[in-house]
Amino acid sequence: MEYPPRFRMAHLPTPVQKLNKNHEYKGYRIWVKRDDLTGLELTGNKARKLDFLIRDAVLSGAGRVITCGGLQSNHCRATAFYAAKTGLKCTLLLRGENPPALEGNFFLYRLLGTEIIFITPEQYKNNLELMEEQAAKSAEQTYVIPEGGSNEIGCWGYISAFDEILSQQTDLGLEFGAVVTATGSGGTHAGLLLGRNIHRAPTEIWSVNVADTAPEFVRRIHGICQSFSQRYHYQLNINENDIHIQDGFIGPGYAEIGPAEIEIIRRMAREEGLILDPAYTSKAFLGLLHLLDRQVLPKGPVLFIHTGGSFGLFPAWHQFAD
Ligand SMILES: Cc1ncc(COP(=O)(O)O)c(C=O)c1O
Repeated sequence: MEYPPRFRMAHLPTPVQKLNKNHEYKGYRIWVKRDDLTGLELTGNKARKLDFLIRDAVLSGAGRVITCGGLQSNHCRATAFYAAKTGLKCTLLLRGENPPALEGNFFLYRLLGTEIIFITPEQYKNNLELMEEQAAKSAEQTYVIPEGGSNEIGCWGYISAFDEILSQQTDLGLEFGAVVTATGSGGTHAGLLLGRNIHRAPTEIWSVNVADTAPEFVRRIHGICQSFSQRYHYQLNINENDIHIQDGFIGPGYAEIGPAEIEIIRRMAREEGLILDPAYTSKAFLGLLHLLDRQVLPKGPVLFIHTGGSFGLFPAWHQFAD
């Protein structure tokens, strides 16, 4: 398959491992793709998308990138590190009016000397326009990376991840019935779905939304797939019914955790030696168990994508004190 130009900073392929104590569950077998191991500073799903996006930025002649996210955004942290590695300057538009404590991802943006602009949640609703305005004002040519790196370029990261999954399942002598991930801006789900359709694979792609609602993500993911098909001339016929999202696992709110998330983070650490994060993977894993309880997924092995986010756990330490 022919890919657009990309850097290769993400450490790939990431391993596929079976769970230890929780491998067999309700007639399913749970495997984990360790995309939390795409790097240390670039850890998580964003590294895959940025391999394509930052290459595109550099090819376009940009001297600076701008992106946006929450105060503890993994995407902002990965973009800021990627920029530092490739000699680009970086501006972040962060949702929140006051500087938070210097911890987790926010500490890392500061460590890198990233330019930070705080905006209100109301302003954040127009984040793309604000980034474009900011880019137009900047002294350097500035490349705008949308929230979460989720557009038709960034989603190549997960088209290529799906390629990786196909060859890994062959090596392991398995056929995954479903792949399950978290969804926060839609690019990971869109890329996996595009990969599955390009390869005409039977694997079902599911995600668990950690914000907004399932219909909102169906719309966004469908939009990314359409932009991809138009830009790269693929006739894929993906319709909204092909987008499977498990709603109901946002917990107390975006990036907030309650007893269920605390319990699963603790359990997976103790029983599996895995660090789940508070904003994405803890919620997605709870969603996965729910899908398995309801026997919704095709029987057999199921692959959970661990999309990273480990730095986000540290600012939540006080909720784990016992
Ligand atoms: C750790 C982690 N997992 C999952 C996601 C969701 O991926 P996407 O934005 O592609 O939907 C994100 C970012 O939004 C993330 O930081």
